[in-house]
Amino acid sequence: MMNKIAKLSLITFSVCCFLSCNENKAKQETTKETTTLKDAFKDNFQIGVAINQHQINESDTTSAKLIANEFSSLSPENNLKWMYIHPQPDVFNFEQPDKYVALGNKHNMQVVGHTLVWHSQLGEWVNQIKDSTEMIAHLENHINTIVSRYKGKIDDWDVVNEALNEDGTLRESIFLEILGEGYLERAYKLAAKADPDAALAYNDYNLTKPEKREGAIRLVKQLQAAGAKIDGIGMQGHWSLNGPSIEEIEESIIAYSELGIKVMITELDITVLPNPWDLEGAEVSQNFEGSEKMNPYPEGLPDSVQVQLAERYEEIFKLFLKHEDKIDRVTFWGLNDGNSWLNNWPIDGRTNYPLLFDRNQNAKMAYDRIVALKK
Ligand code: XIL
Repeated sequence: MMNKIAKLSLITFSVCCFLSCNENKAKQETTKETTTLKDAFKDNFQIGVAINQHQINESDTTSAKLIANEFSSLSPENNLKWMYIHPQPDVFNFEQPDKYVALGNKHNMQVVGHTLVWHSQLGEWVNQIKDSTEMIAHLENHINTIVSRYKGKIDDWDVVNEALNEDGTLRESIFLEILGEGYLERAYKLAAKADPDAALAYNDYNLTKPEKREGAIRLVKQLQAAGAKIDGIGMQGHWSLNGPSIEEIEESIIAYSELGIKVMITELDITVLPNPWDLEGAEVSQNFEGSEKMNPYPEGLPDSVQVQLAERYEEIFKLFLKHEDKIDRVTFWGLNDGNSWLNNWPIDGRTNYPLLFDRNQNAKMAYDRIVALKK
């Protein structure tokens, strides 16, 4: 027979055990809730997000919290592009860019400047320039004014965006037409002069494709040979469930890193929708708007595709972790599926699911799978 004292201590022991087990469980749950992307990858690379005008204005508190809690780096989805920041030769719009930079600085995030020289979303007036002296003056004014204003506040600049064709040659643009290929060196030198401490990158898509990769390597080598400052290469990362392959991504990360510069994944999103150019015999110019075949999940993503997306993100992040010594940051192009530009590109009005947070701002399976890599 157990005496009274023994009985009491057994009860006390069981109660304590029950309490501490529960406490542990609660602790685990809290850990789960408080593990954020930026914490999970803090020893590996920065985790960034591109934000739109509403998010810069912090008009939605849930988004504002997610941005501050989950990410360590910010990119501006549109507001720093030439057509918005410098819409007329003598007009600069700094209101939104100032807010963007202040937000990133307030949260001690790495602040990215996207982008200084790009053929797209360019002030229409730039396309009218006919003369090289005039072009040089405007380019100087553009880069000097913007980079100097944010000296010490913008950490990384995508100086030139998308200067290459798919075969690795230089893309026809007003800059190439008027200034020849020297415009690249000029742009990097101007940016370095305006803020010697900012990291300067070249940014483009399809940088995993062998011909374009060779073109990017040539471009970086030419800049280096000309004594221009080039610190990194931004692989945009607009990828799909099927491609590019992990091998192609890996070969590219290694090849760029061998140039002695940092690799960044600057615009990551993974489309789950069919792309017009993947369809045999399809014309990209064909109008697919309203086509059910091209917009298969308007009401929600089937579980099977959710799993595919999660697995794709998982294998991509495994690769990033393998090459963490070469990678400076991984930035998602948008906060949640509802904000993604891929709902409207390359076909307008579709329902896409390319990011880690869903339309209700909840973390998706893909989020859990990549965070789990670090547990
Ligand atoms: C996209 C934005 O996300 C859209 O809102 C805008 O309408 C078009 O541009 N490559 C880039 C980004 O470098 O600036 C583009 O952003 C996506 C492709």
